[in-house]
Amino acid sequence: MLNQPSAAVVSATLPAVRAHGEAITRRFYQRMFDAHPELLDLFNRGNQASGAQQAALAAAVVAYAEHLTGRSAMPWGPVLDRIAHKHASLGITPNQYTIVGRHLLAAVGEVLGDAVTPQVAAAWDEVYWLLACELVAREARLYAGAGLAEGESVWRPWRVTARRQETTDVVSFTLTPDDGGAVPAFVPGQYTSVAVDLDGGRGQQIRQYSLAGRPGADHWRIAVKRVRGADGLVSTHLHEHVAVGGPLRLSPPFGEVSAVAGDGPLLLVSAGIGLTPAMAALEHLAVATPRRPVVMVHADRAGAAHALRGDLPRLHAALPNLHTTLWYEDTTDATLPGVPAEVTGGRVDPELIPLSLDAHVHLCGPLPFMNTVRGGLLRRGVPVERIAYEVFGPGMLRGEPN
Ligand SMILES: Cc1cc2nc3c(=O)[nH]c(=O)nc-3n(C[C@H](O)[C@H](O)[C@H](O)COP(=O)(O)OP(=O)(O)OC[C@H]3O[C@@H](n4cnc5c(N)ncnc54)[C@H](O)[C@@H]3O)c2cc1C
Ligand code: HEM
Repeated sequence: MLNQPSAAVVSATLPAVRAHGEAITRRFYQRMFDAHPELLDLFNRGNQASGAQQAALAAAVVAYAEHLTGRSAMPWGPVLDRIAHKHASLGITPNQYTIVGRHLLAAVGEVLGDAVTPQVAAAWDEVYWLLACELVAREARLYAGAGLAEGESVWRPWRVTARRQETTDVVSFTLTPDDGGAVPAFVPGQYTSVAVDLDGGRGQQIRQYSLAGRPGADHWRIAVKRVRGADGLVSTHLHEHVAVGGPLRLSPPFGEVSAVAGDGPLLLVSAGIGLTPAMAALEHLAVATPRRPVVMVHADRAGAAHALRGDLPRLHAALPNLHTTLWYEDTTDATLPGVPAEVTGGRVDPELIPLSLDAHVHLCGPLPFMNTVRGGLLRRGVPVERIAYEVFGPGMLRGEPN
């Protein structure tokens, strides 16, 4: 709880902090990276350049201040869980909170100038540390749950044991630990962080990839879509430079969203590369509860762009109550031998998704796609708490599907 005098000061200064949020976070990152250039290897450079991450951190602190001062009824548990899982997958340590806090509060002072009296600075320091302590505590529990000793690195050496070009843009990698240790268990929907050293001495970058194989197998599998245009740093590196036998540094599995919630009917809705959590769900169910009723709805540009679809005949054979509906924008190469799927042309119409109202739902795909599908399912009567979703980037706070 924020103490009463601090709450009054935070309430009075919230509009100014919110209004200058972008300038404050820009200044914060400049200061922090000048003082700690090693942290550049931790943060996503694409998000830095596009401003997405600045907005996420600032939005979280401001939203938390609104929460503490009674201005927002937003439930905080799920937000803290999401951030803590992401942080844990990056190996964020408690001492880094001290660095972030120091530079964030100094940036508030620089941008707001004389308005930041010692009393104002102390009140915002309190907000920051209340939030930081919640995250540090959650992250400590996650590290312990992953079997890490205090202070032990999350990074473990793995090796690529198979690589398959799934489509023009998607490559899948089969991975096994290089230290002879066990393959960690995971829940479908969880991801691993992958750390790569970019060529040309451009430093390290880290990205998350959903585990797309069977939980409990003696290997992991990820499927990576190459981001083209302004070429994606890590996906391009993985496509161009990581071959069979190649080493990779991976984190333990983290992620708060389960793709197999409940034990009744399950609806998995995905678009494009967003199908990776759904594939892990099917692989899991094929072994754990093969008779569970499952509807898989997947949207893609065309059959040739639909990654991992070669696995569907095997999964259909193992899951007698799996019903697959595919929406391809171009249906010319849609036939899928061994898969009794309905194939429809065009984009997903949420009104036409085969739906059992007691289903648990998992969504993964671009935000506009998830907004459309989630809105349609809510209108059709699915309770909000039964719709889980995964966003393949920062954006839960600003991009909350509605
Ligand atoms: C929980 C989770 C699970 C995920 N699972 C998967 C998965 O299973 N498979 C998968 O393929 N991906 C997955 N992702 C996405 C993945 O983590 C990466 O974001 C993706 O591979 C792109 O990373 P990149 O380094 O190639 O691109 P980045 O370099 O991060 O670029 C990403 C975007 O930013 C743009 N950009 C880059 N530089 C700039 C700049 N200077 N200015 C403006 N914009 C810029 C790029 O054009 C691109 O559109 C997941 C993400 C999350 C959070
Ligand atoms: C109270 C303090 C903090 C808050 C409120 C916060 C908030 C956030 C949020 C909202 C995200 C995006 C999560 C998502 O939706 O994917 C995020 C990601 C991230 N955070 Fe934090 N964070 C804090 C502290 C830290 C610290 C101490 C570090 C380490 C120096 C750190 C490093 C990162 C990194 C590297 C990411 C991943 C995204 C990227 O690389 O751009 N954060 N954080």
